[in-house]
Amino acid sequence: MDDVAESGLSRSAGEVEDHRITAELVQNWVVWRDAGNWERFRTIWHPDGRMMATWTQGGRDEFIWSARSPPPSRSCKAATANPGLPSAAPCLGRLAAPAGLALGGDAVRNFDESNITEAVLEKVRQAKGSRVRQVSGSLVRHLHAIVREIEPTQAEWGQAIEFLTRTGQTCTDIRQEFILLSDTLGVSMLVDAINHRLPGNATETTVLGPFYVQAAPEHGLGDDISKGMVGEPLLVEGTVSHTDGSPIAGATVDTWHTDGDGFYDVQGPVDLQGLAGRARFRTDAAGRFWFRSIVPASYPIPDDGPVGDMLKLQGRHPYHPAHVHFMIGHFGCETLVTHLFLAGDQYLDSDVVFGVKDSLIHSLEEQSAGETARGNWVDRPTKALRFDFVLAREQSANLAEAPAVAG
Ligand code: BEZ
Ligand code: FE
Repeated sequence: MDDVAESGLSRSAGEVEDHRITAELVQNWVVWRDAGNWERFRTIWHPDGRMMATWTQGGRDEFIWSARSPPPSRSCKAATANPGLPSAAPCLGRLAAPAGLALGGDAVRNFDESNITEAVLEKVRQAKGSRVRQVSGSLVRHLHAIVREIEPTQAEWGQAIEFLTRTGQTCTDIRQEFILLSDTLGVSMLVDAINHRLPGNATETTVLGPFYVQAAPEHGLGDDISKGMVGEPLLVEGTVSHTDGSPIAGATVDTWHTDGDGFYDVQGPVDLQGLAGRARFRTDAAGRFWFRSIVPASYPIPDDGPVGDMLKLQGRHPYHPAHVHFMIGHFGCETLVTHLFLAGDQYLDSDVVFGVKDSLIHSLEEQSAGETARGNWVDRPTKALRFDFVLAREQSANLAEAPAVAG
């Protein structure tokens, strides 16, 4: 039975001895016709997915098949070579599987590299949600393009699957290897850029990173948040304002950073009592905040898992330059997620997560003991990091404020 299909429909029906013909489906579009008499063929679906056609009488039979997408070249050649088949048959439409055979719509068989992408795209086009259709289609197109470009061996594809499997298995409550993967491939920064096309003077954003803790302890302005972390003393003074310069009172300022050796508190045993180098403040009536801590250091992102292995294979170091994180929020404003990077760090130009922006690099100043220029007070000489943050209005608020467009 198979040889009808294998020979690319090159036999006439009359030559098939048991009065039963079968054909491998070509993109689901094989159409059988008996000299205009459809009654003489009964098309059924073989459970293995092939279309099977049977007829009740012999005689002169004519096959016409057509494909909306180009058929596999083997069948194409055979069809062209067969004088009994029209070379440019009209498209006669799609043969539906009969009710009762749960094939899920069109049968999906006989694909090769010439047609598999279009076949999968055709499937995902049936998704109900337009965003699902868009995302799924894009995923299939780009994934197939990667495979066509690199032509992996089966072993290499196995390694890719194993890499993703290990990435998932490395995730725990306190370690998100997929975020690290996204960060180190520059995807986190790309998503960040797309989502933060902010007005000119709003403070620029960068990656959140995996060490943010939602339940950071609230602190009073001026508190020392180092809690025993070892490092050089640091004073941080800042303000939070709108893009028009008006101060934002009561903004929440979350901050977190490493110790002087480049370790976060949560990289040890996690215990909320043991949180250090992180806190939440509220700006005062003039939009000001300040606190004391220690100078953080550059550090390697966690590189003892699959992402670290990937970096080694790619010949990349795992370092992120020294920085202090900020997440600043206020009603009606876009929440700002950013870092202040310390000027002079050796990794500023090779950050493993591509997070550095010039506007976020800041020099530490020398501050002597006593009152600071901003009216705060320190009891010993310290490094000082000073920065004035600007929050963009929430996008919906911007829209609401936008003048009506005529027409
Ligand atoms: C961080 O800044 O904490 C960070 C960002 C991206 C990846 C790893 C760490
Ligand atoms: Fe960090």
